Amino acid sequence: MKGMIFLYILGINGSPNENGETYYLLNEVLRQCEGCETEIINIGKCLATAKNPFCINCSVPCNKSCYKGTDLEAAYNKMANADAVVFGSPVYFGSMSAQLKAFFDKGRALRGEKVFIGKPCGFVVCGASMFGGQESAIAAMHASTLVYGMTILGPGSNEFDAAHLGVCAVKPAKDDNWANKRCASLAKRILREINK
Ligand SMILES: Cc1cc2nc3c(=O)[nH]c(=O)nc-3n(C[C@H](O)[C@H](O)[C@H](O)COP(=O)(O)O)c2cc1C
Repeated sequence: MKGMIFLYILGINGSPNENGETYYLLNEVLRQCEGCETEIINIGKCLATAKNPFCINCSVPCNKSCYKGTDLEAAYNKMANADAVVFGSPVYFGSMSAQLKAFFDKGRALRGEKVFIGKPCGFVVCGASMFGGQESAIAAMHASTLVYGMTILGPGSNEFDAAHLGVCAVKPAKDDNWANKRCASLAKRILREINK
């Protein structure tokens, strides 16, 4: 908290499951961001209100016409106003979900406007298998957020350890003790970053 102004942390759920594994992990991080306003939005639902579910490169430069006035535009606005963002995805074929990728692609105009440069972000993913591609999914999310100019935070904190790429879980995430510790550590890292 800076003075009396609440800091706002946004969780973006790239899973079609509203209350699945990805949601669980996002919630574990955000509920431990004490003193902050938090919200988790389901990005697939937001995308469904836009004209096309993924970018078809209809105008160069992008004129945002496919999502003007939709829940997707509201999601981009929330991200623009957030002090930090936590991106969550199920592992799909060793990468992020198509929904989350479409969210990154369709926001291309905002990249040109430099809207997200320097915004801190962290990552949570869950796969059904151990070594099922959790780290490659996070690496793909790193690439997209770097292309936006965002600042990547690992789940490392002084209270825990330096950590690695992001929070990686094996389903069921609630029983993955290591991932749960990482969620707590990511929350601490975010709090330290945004209270600098
Ligand atoms: C299309 C599809 C692809 C998947 N690919 C992988 C994969 O490559 N590796 C893995 O460990 N799990 C894979 N899974 C399993 C999901 O990652 C897993 O069920 C995840 O925990 C679901 O999260 P959610 O409850 O938030 O949707 C896949 C599931 C689906 C539907």
